[in-house]
Amino acid sequence: MQPQVGIQEVRARLANARAVTVLTGAGISADSGVPTFRGADGLWRNFRAEDLATPEAFARDPRLVWEWYNWRREIIVTKKPNPAHYALVILERRCERFWLITQNVDGLHRAAGSRKLSEIHGNIWKVRCTACGQIAENRDVPIALLPACPACSGLLRPHIVWFGESLDAEDLSRSYEAVESCEVMLIIGTSGVVYPAASFAPAAKAAGAFVAEITLDPAPYSETLDASLQGRAKDILPALVE
Ligand code: APR
Repeated sequence: MQPQVGIQEVRARLANARAVTVLTGAGISADSGVPTFRGADGLWRNFRAEDLATPEAFARDPRLVWEWYNWRREIIVTKKPNPAHYALVILERRCERFWLITQNVDGLHRAAGSRKLSEIHGNIWKVRCTACGQIAENRDVPIALLPACPACSGLLRPHIVWFGESLDAEDLSRSYEAVESCEVMLIIGTSGVVYPAASFAPAAKAAGAFVAEITLDPAPYSETLDASLQGRAKDILPALVE
């Protein structure tokens, strides 16, 4: 186990770092009111995300999966970025080299002004044709339950990486490059159980970075990190970059 350090040390490391990489999960959007996946408020009609966010679930019952995404669209459309999202925009502008990797599909980082980012699990406001593969923005709330592709009439699906699917190769190589070349890595609001995102903290550590997490519940690998700051992202992140 590493001797862990407190918020002042993390702040000093951030202030002096030229290269910073950040990984975010549902916890950063929880402060905007978006339910997390594994929290009790993330349940819809007693389905777990793992029962709906799969290619098999969509093949079996695309209407049911779209109904679930409509429930999530209805929630997310009303939400705004919070001080934690804005703190990361400040960090991006201040750092020589910065990259944000988010597992969130809600688009709140982009809405806050983040530009150097990979949305590695996709975006809830994008759709992709299951027949021709065309990707388009679609902000309908609600979206039609069996939406059709304007180009070929094929069935549209959410442009989201589901359980059992691979991440986009370019996103993945860009993320690993950022993880392995940073001086400081922040891990914010993720339970650290979904791969490959769960491998980023150990990879940054192995490459010699100072790695700190901000979370309500420590992740499986928390003890191996340099710092584990427990609390709400919206309180801790602004204090780290102010
Ligand atoms: N501030 C900081 N951390 C928080 C806050 C908060 N206000 N609220 C919750 N958390 C933490 C929780 O302690 C938990 O560790 O955020 C984490 C959320 O974990 P999950 O719900 O598992 O979300 P995430 O890690 O993003 O899930 C990863 O799994 O369902 C799939 O593809 C989906 O992107 C998602 C992936």
